[in-house]
Amino acid sequence: MKNPRYQQTLRPVCITGTGSFVPDRIMTNQDLEKIVDTTDQWILDRTGIRERRIAGEQEFTSTMGAEAARRALADAGVSPEEVDLIIVATITPDMVFPNTACYVQEAIGATHAFCFDLEAACSGFLYGLEVAEQFVSSGRVDTVLLIGAEKISSITDWSDRSLCILFGDGAGAAVIQSREDATGILASSLKSDGGLASLLQLPAGGSRLPASMETVAQKLHYMKMDGREVFKHAVTCMTTAAKDALSQCGLTMEDIALVIPHQANMRIIKAIGDRLGGDREKYFVNLDRYGNTSAASVIVALDEAARSGRLHPGDKVLMIAFGGGFVWGATILEWSKA
Ligand code: COA
Repeated sequence: MKNPRYQQTLRPVCITGTGSFVPDRIMTNQDLEKIVDTTDQWILDRTGIRERRIAGEQEFTSTMGAEAARRALADAGVSPEEVDLIIVATITPDMVFPNTACYVQEAIGATHAFCFDLEAACSGFLYGLEVAEQFVSSGRVDTVLLIGAEKISSITDWSDRSLCILFGDGAGAAVIQSREDATGILASSLKSDGGLASLLQLPAGGSRLPASMETVAQKLHYMKMDGREVFKHAVTCMTTAAKDALSQCGLTMEDIALVIPHQANMRIIKAIGDRLGGDREKYFVNLDRYGNTSAASVIVALDEAARSGRLHPGDKVLMIAFGGGFVWGATILEWSKA
């Protein structure tokens, strides 16, 4: 007899609720002028960022993620007890272990969920969506709570002017479920290239270079990045992934109602826009207010787009991301939420 576990037919998967949370504390470019040798104008011209949010001492990736999760669950009309699986995408977990998803579970009372973290840097939400899709479409679980959350300020070298201007803290969450009448995810193109790992990384604190007096003295517990190289790869990789996803489902940019690009740098978004085409109004931008929030970036933007009335049932949404690894990708879904 065939194993019943493998007899499920695939179900359409959609986002039934979103939520986001950013800390109250705003750090403006003018504030950064007092910390490093930079100017508001330089940051604005080179990145498009005006300000970012910085978590307080008692705010962690899990507490921000939990608040975003509560808002997403309320939006979906789902109780915490109904959640089967919590995935937290992050590069700034509360601790190396236990996983941050377990802390979120405890905070929101999702007593029936199993929980794990997923590390795909700034592409965490798209990678997480792919994983959630497999769980829900197969019928293995009904409800996934997917969170992208970061306290990037905790791994930021506040004396490195080429880095500290770029990032901010925040969290976003999505409830992923199946709906009979939903079209769901139309295409996804996820890629990685470990050969380029050294261009964007946090060298110390893992098993390769455990914490020591020397690693702390050398500031190896902070992010390191070759900005120019990352910039070039980000543009090429995100453009290629988006084109691949479009061709997979036979769509053109004309068919896309909204593009949610990773909110890293306005110049990167413009360069992608030049290559992909499509009306500039379609490219959602909130990086001026938050900077790059890594794994939270795409889902915070998606939540803001949904809440500000930019998304309607039937809209095709193209999400594009890129991060350290390198890991990148593009996902196209049909929005089904009214
Ligand atoms: N303020 C003023 N000057 C700065 C500065 C700052 N905050 N940061 C760097 N500079 C200086 C550099 O020291 C350099 O000076 P030099 O020519 O005397 O050496 C000059 O500005 C140009 O630096 P460069 O690195 O070529 O600038 P850039 O145009 O590439 O912009 C980044 C730098 C970091 C903004 C840009 O490379 C970038 O956004 N890269 C991608 C980063 C990213 O998105 N990473 C995350 C991906 S998930």
